[in-house]
Amino acid sequence: MFKRLTFALLMAALAAPVARAQAWPQHPIKFLMTAPAGNSNGHGRTLEVEIVTRAHAAGCTALFVTVDLPMRGQRHADLRNGLEVPPRLTFRNALDIMMKPAWASGILMGKRKTFGNVEAFLKKRNQGGALASGRWANDNYDPTLSWTDVTWLRKLWPGKLVLKGVLDADDAKRAADLGADAIVVSNHGGRQLDSAPSTIAALPRIADAAGDRIEILFDSGIRSGQDVLKALALGARGCLIGRAQLYGLAAMGGAGVAKALSLIESELKVSMSLTGVRDVAQVSRDILFDDYSRRNG
Ligand SMILES: Cc1cc2nc3c(=O)[nH]c(=O)nc-3n(C[C@H](O)[C@H](O)[C@H](O)COP(=O)(O)O)c2cc1C
Repeated sequence: MFKRLTFALLMAALAAPVARAQAWPQHPIKFLMTAPAGNSNGHGRTLEVEIVTRAHAAGCTALFVTVDLPMRGQRHADLRNGLEVPPRLTFRNALDIMMKPAWASGILMGKRKTFGNVEAFLKKRNQGGALASGRWANDNYDPTLSWTDVTWLRKLWPGKLVLKGVLDADDAKRAADLGADAIVVSNHGGRQLDSAPSTIAALPRIADAAGDRIEILFDSGIRSGQDVLKALALGARGCLIGRAQLYGLAAMGGAGVAKALSLIESELKVSMSLTGVRDVAQVSRDILFDDYSRRNG
């Protein structure tokens, strides 16, 4: 099993407020922040300052700032399935719930979930409680998020600063200019903008333009170890895994997450072996049959 995993805590996490970061000292914790709207007075963003300070005090080593979520995309599947706050009961999801009585009673009888990282802030605004805070998390994106905020955050955050959601080579260069330590080439798992390019298509251009100036991470669509290998070959230093481990979680809980990760790891090992590489740091475009540089160089 991977010896060292890196976890990202969501700012709007239901289950893992930032104070619990210290509970996993063996694994570095990154803090994933979306900039909420309505808290800025033009000079100071009280909630962000408070939360960033808490994340640092709790031992988070890097701040990931999500830059591709200035507003929520039109997520047609969510609209269709009633995934909103409060959730809309459709015939299909009512049937789904009835067919899983153990899960349903676990949710009903279990501990009430809250957005622990922002609960105190929301209580002050009379928006405490799961439903009200869920509504807040759903509605509060900052459409004014800009490069100025990156500069501001760079001054505020002493650890590594990572911009998540970059698909453009010039943006990658600008992130480096402003002192970000890394970017995540991400299209938010294809959840934000229909017709956005796939990240694997965007990656080589970004790596060519800025790979020597800023660390490049990659996500959106990693489902196997071979996907990881291809991303490394095209210039990523590491990959983030979203839904692949959530599918494991949904199927088998914690054991399912471990299973999903070990599958990815063994696929990566086999793919490395069969392409003749021994070390992830040595993976290059040469292992790809029709790589971008050959086509464009
Ligand atoms: C249920 C769910 C919730 C997510 N919430 C956030 C979030 O709050 N902030 C964020 O930056 N990305 C969020 N993402 C996107 C992931 O961080 C990641 O970019 C994406 O899932 C990667 O693609 P993959 O799922 O194909 O691996 C979410 C993804 C999923 C599936």
